Amino acid sequence: MNFYILTLFPDMIESAMSHSITGRAQEAGIIKINCINIRDFANNKHNQVDDYPYGGGPGMVLQPQPVYDAYQSIILKKNIKPRVIYMTPQGKIFSQAVAKDLAKEKDLMIICGHYEGIDQRVIDEIVTDEISIGDYILTGGELAAMVVIDAVSRLIPGVLGKEESYQDESFSNHLLEYPQYTRPLVFRNRKVPEVLLSGHHAKIEKWRREQSLKLTFEKRPDLLEKAELTEEDKAYLDSLRKM
Ligand code: ADE
Repeated sequence: MNFYILTLFPDMIESAMSHSITGRAQEAGIIKINCINIRDFANNKHNQVDDYPYGGGPGMVLQPQPVYDAYQSIILKKNIKPRVIYMTPQGKIFSQAVAKDLAKEKDLMIICGHYEGIDQRVIDEIVTDEISIGDYILTGGELAAMVVIDAVSRLIPGVLGKEESYQDESFSNHLLEYPQYTRPLVFRNRKVPEVLLSGHHAKIEKWRREQSLKLTFEKRPDLLEKAELTEEDKAYLDSLRKM
């Protein structure tokens, strides 16, 4: 997957994404994160890319021309017509389902805004998707873009060690994940649940499923509406409701 990130702070993204799993995926050539500095497309000698808002008001607005020229440089050079995501608190809320949908693409462009925003005309001209990572206001779109890059990248085959490693986990089946334990057997007087030491795979599976259901019931009951539940799951949930 090729990411093309239009930003005023390419170093912020390049350095953060060079670590851990996204770093390894880039080294392995499974993902490529290309940062395009919008300022490189300024058309004045001061390299200015923002200006005062028409109609007055606080802050500065990113001008449409440098954003559009940055976009065009990629479109023409790579001969692609990717989905173009604008990170904004006005967008659709990001979720695992949105990440899965984006992970199908071969190329994705993400625009990071700053100041009071971007001139609406370039948004109307090139943006296909507006995405928010939650109901709060960040100082810029870079952190939000990195959330999207990270969540999408780990869904691409080969990025995680084993392909199964994301099959079981929270949200992919609308259930929270069961708790995990490793050594030591006893930590500050707290012992690992006995069933996990039993070697009895069917019992362990059953316990894990029940833990997932219980945690989801207690912490995120809203998720249960979308979960695929067996008759056994439903009976277990009923028993929790009666407690
Ligand atoms: N830019 C500023 N705040 C944001 C948010 N919550 N999500 C996406 N982009 C943003």
